[in-house]
Amino acid sequence: MTPTIDLLIRNARVVTCADDACAVSPPAFLAVAHGQIAGLGTMAQLDPNARGAQELDAEGALLTPGLIDCHTHLVFAGDRAREFELRLEGASYEDIARAGGGILSTVQRTREANAGDLLAQSTRRLASLMQHGVTTVEIKSGYGLSLKAELKCLQVARELGQHQPVNVVTTLLAAHALPPEFTGRADDYIDHVVQHIIPEAARLKLADAVDAFCENIGFTSAQTRRVFEAAQAHGLPVKLHAEQLSNQGGAALAAEFGALSADHLEFVDEAGVAAMARAGTVAVMLPGAYYFLRDTHVPPIALFRRHGVPMAVATDCNPGTSPTTHLPLMLNMACTLFRMTPAEALLGVTRHAARALGLLATHGTVEIGKRADLCLWNIDHPAELAYAIGASPLRARIHGGLDGGLQHRLQ
Ligand code: NIG
Ligand code: FE
Repeated sequence: MTPTIDLLIRNARVVTCADDACAVSPPAFLAVAHGQIAGLGTMAQLDPNARGAQELDAEGALLTPGLIDCHTHLVFAGDRAREFELRLEGASYEDIARAGGGILSTVQRTREANAGDLLAQSTRRLASLMQHGVTTVEIKSGYGLSLKAELKCLQVARELGQHQPVNVVTTLLAAHALPPEFTGRADDYIDHVVQHIIPEAARLKLADAVDAFCENIGFTSAQTRRVFEAAQAHGLPVKLHAEQLSNQGGAALAAEFGALSADHLEFVDEAGVAAMARAGTVAVMLPGAYYFLRDTHVPPIALFRRHGVPMAVATDCNPGTSPTTHLPLMLNMACTLFRMTPAEALLGVTRHAARALGLLATHGTVEIGKRADLCLWNIDHPAELAYAIGASPLRARIHGGLDGGLQHRLQ
């Protein structure tokens, strides 16, 4: 026990997420010092004289790591409700994209928006994520698709992390779609990404990783390889939107570059899964997009399990395929739609999500030395987080111990 305790939590039933079973501890204390977990043990082990600058009686509430949403496109302008109507009338996501709608309609709105508007719109979405327990969020660019607009989006993402008590990790997704000024010239656009956008985002330290959309309506695996080579040359880790609508060999390519994660993966084959296992690449499951596109091709959960590929779960928050900011709802969908277990789903938004962002050394579990990003929930058993459809049982959200203070503390 450290002598100075900034925050002392008593009577919490802790799910550390350090073990695969997600076992619940007997009533425990947790001490925070300098934003880190400094002490953890049963109530019987707590020094009766221990005091914290702030104290919190959890009254038996469940304590988990703060949730990590490791895949979002949170920074964008406008919405795509009209496109939703078109799809209900029979148009497919690919039809709309090929007709110049889809991602490109959000690109137009995002380019037109000034940084202040983008920040305001994105702040609302971030606030909602935080209300559902998120303490770390990955935010991709990808609705700018020009040097200026991509940097604007990354800058807004960075500002969100500076203004709000949440940890923001940024990803450059310039290779998300072909911007209209490059129609018919995909290789030229990749030249531009490789020669200008990646180097400038790296120089300004605006991107923590680089992503691409490897798909028949996105970029080929050869073009994705060039993006990855440029990222590597600038010391940036990679991740990939892979095999969402078809199998392009994206998972194996991502693994070849030691990717942090390959995401979506509805159409990945066993060779791709095996390559991911060898590379330690996390499989990020995005059941919101699967649900919203009424996909029928379930990602091969059994193969991930068999090959020991860690599975993360994320919102994919974006206006076209997953307009949601409710991460606990994604746990429910991961279980009902993909047949993940509630324990797997919880690990998917804690330990495995931290790994998908390269943050496992400091985030994702409740262990001494880790950052004190924590959630207290008004539930008895961790499975309830995945069980309830759209519930919000968050009791308190703690970001960096005292740094972010206690938010959303309910009676
Ligand atoms: O993750 N797949 C590509 N990107 C997003 C969708 C973007 C959009 O439609 O605006 C996704 O699903
Ligand atoms: Fe996505």
